Amino acid sequence: MDIAEDTATTGQEPLPETDFKIFEELESEVRLYCRTFPAVFERAKGAELFAEDGRTFIDFFCGAGTLNYGHNNDFIKARVADYLAADGLAHGLDMYTVAKRDFLTAFAETVLRPRGLDYKAQFTGPTGTDAVEAALKLARKRTGRSGLVAFTGAYHGMSRGSLAVTGNRRARRAGGVAGQDVTFVPYEDGPQGGFDSIGFLERLLTDPSSGVEVPAAVIVEPMQMEGGVYPAGADWLRALRELTERHGILLILDEIQAGCGRSGRFFCFEHAGITPDVVTLSKSLSGYGLPLSMVLFKRELDVWEPGEHTGTFRGNQLAFVAATAACELWRQDTFHARLAASIDRLERFRAELDAQGGDLVTRGSGMALGIDLGSGSGSGSGPLRAERLQQYAFDRGLIVELCGRRGEVVKLLPPLTIDPAVLDRGLDVLRQGLRSV
Ligand SMILES: Cc1ncc(COP(=O)(O)O)c(C=O)c1O
Repeated sequence: MDIAEDTATTGQEPLPETDFKIFEELESEVRLYCRTFPAVFERAKGAELFAEDGRTFIDFFCGAGTLNYGHNNDFIKARVADYLAADGLAHGLDMYTVAKRDFLTAFAETVLRPRGLDYKAQFTGPTGTDAVEAALKLARKRTGRSGLVAFTGAYHGMSRGSLAVTGNRRARRAGGVAGQDVTFVPYEDGPQGGFDSIGFLERLLTDPSSGVEVPAAVIVEPMQMEGGVYPAGADWLRALRELTERHGILLILDEIQAGCGRSGRFFCFEHAGITPDVVTLSKSLSGYGLPLSMVLFKRELDVWEPGEHTGTFRGNQLAFVAATAACELWRQDTFHARLAASIDRLERFRAELDAQGGDLVTRGSGMALGIDLGSGSGSGSGPLRAERLQQYAFDRGLIVELCGRRGEVVKLLPPLTIDPAVLDRGLDVLRQGLRSV
């Protein structure tokens, strides 16, 4: 089907009055998502976004995994609105506040204690990369070593420390990041196939002539999201835990995108039954799209001195209020029943795609699904087809993002709370789009 021709029948084409002028004039060329999704958004509710020109979009991108509870979740919104109405503190540095106490209490009761996790929490600057920076700095301080091990395909952020453990060459070049004492090891799986990462690491660590010092930490995503939606196997994660423990290396689990319920459990690493030394959380932690980042680490790793890693925006008070409400949602049976039903629907969709055969590959876990259009015939058309599918979807009111090494994977991240009918509508667009591209 000719996409351009078909678009004309969807009723989703931008209306002539859509005005992008001020953005194009004033906002830097660095802007990204607005180029892929050219609309001016005005409102959002649940799994839907509404543009000022009247178009409606189903959101399977969810702020790159920041809106696991959907847009403007009513339960969370009511708490935030009440807090604002009562003149609750909007900013409090890292002072003791009621909002922070409520969050720490709710998080301990809902997430940590039921999982037997005796962690301390550090609130960092607002965005995910701030949590990663703090985690790496702590690991280096605690061990007195500078080296790190990261995995090919990893994404950990855009500031210098987190970029140094991110695989993407383009991003690294832009950050002027050289080695920074990081050894990259192929992840368990990737576009080039499976790899014995654990065996390779074992060799590097036990061979006195490997050229690699024992690192301070290994940093790993339990499911690589930007890298192309590659979930780590439970055995692989367990072997990595065992190896790092045996060599006295700290294991940092970056749960920034795969955590907060995306995999169906609060932490994605839970399926492996491991206890990481350090965990980074951000994105959906506040449950409302408000910035909140946190590092969790074993009690004995708390070697920080007061103010040694500080910052003005650590622990956003409104985000604490929202995150406390999100913890309450997490305790509701109705929330889990809906989540289980949505996971089931997404898995059936995945099975349907797998059954069609052809050259498409699916991967994922819980409410994360990657549709890999790149591995097929070797013609290199994967990224092009993925882009066409993304465009096809956008023209019909569905927002999906691409990931993978070359943008060959269409990544689906619907809200965990999505209405089943809306989920089905979005999946239908993809069904048709896949036939078309
Ligand atoms: C696994 C992971 N770590 C870290 C980050 C960086 O988070 P932020 O973009 O909020 O700095 C991201 C962002 O996508 C991520 O997916």
